[in-house]
Amino acid sequence: MMLERLTQSFGPSGREKEITQVISEYVTPFSDEVYTDALGNLIAHKKGNGKKIMLAAHMDEIGVAVTYIDEKGFLRFSKIGGLYQRRLLNRRVRFSNGFTGVIDTEENNKDYNIQKMYIDIGATDREQAEKMVSVGDMAVFEGEYKEEYGVIISKALDNRAGCYILIKVLEQIKSENDIYFCFTSQEEVGLRGAKAAAYSVNPEYALAVDVTDTGDTPNCPKMAVNLGGGAAVKVMDRSVITNPDVRIKLIELAKKNNIPYQLEIMTDGGTDAGAIHTSREGVKTGGVSVPTRYIHSPSEMVSKKDLEACIKLIKAFCESNL
Ligand code: CO
Ligand code: ZN
Repeated sequence: MMLERLTQSFGPSGREKEITQVISEYVTPFSDEVYTDALGNLIAHKKGNGKKIMLAAHMDEIGVAVTYIDEKGFLRFSKIGGLYQRRLLNRRVRFSNGFTGVIDTEENNKDYNIQKMYIDIGATDREQAEKMVSVGDMAVFEGEYKEEYGVIISKALDNRAGCYILIKVLEQIKSENDIYFCFTSQEEVGLRGAKAAAYSVNPEYALAVDVTDTGDTPNCPKMAVNLGGGAAVKVMDRSVITNPDVRIKLIELAKKNNIPYQLEIMTDGGTDAGAIHTSREGVKTGGVSVPTRYIHSPSEMVSKKDLEACIKLIKAFCESNL
């Protein structure tokens, strides 16, 4: 199953080699050219004579990096991307070589200070630990892929769900437009890959495809996005106010094609749209998002119906007259 393989592949920001390999396997049969750049973006190009469109989904995931190994073999670490410190205790993390560690803290009052946390890889001392991992090694959450009753639960649905959607659009699309499917690097540390990709692609239109929060669980801020409520058409987030033409076009297409949709204003966090829309002399940029519960945890949750709605809407956008 493609989405399972995508979510379970290793790829913290700046270490996207494994996930890049997996995605290129899926996109190569459907693309005219596939290439990578110096920042680690993977770009699949489907040529056409029409408008130049950039679709962006980041492929990196949040994680941790080892900063120090102490004499007892415990690892100190820093965050790669937006980890919630108070939710880290006793989480499992996995290194690219397969070793698993458990996060805990030396604090008794549980102040959730990351400086006091450590990763326990079961080593007896520094010497043994250094045979297993090195300073600078990165690890990601462990979070098994489960499909139940219309929802999917896994680590890294942010943003392998977006990567899955782009691959599905590429497989199905019939369009005269000139479309660049960009699987971007280093989004979680500040939209870094998308900045370079937007410059080199130089598109007329762009859509960022990523996850967004929902407002439908007992413990969350009010927000008009529900799990299972359809594709979320981005109005704004902390990095972008989307282009009105693109936003209106997406809504029209959703209505015309009976694709369930909802309007998204995400107050926490940005997306690749933020880096793309200010590239060069500006790019008409919108966003289509997957409503997702428990973002940046090992147990992110999306609805299969929403994934389908996003695929249909993005495909309709790429096939439309812009
Ligand atoms: Co994220
Ligand atoms: Zn994301």
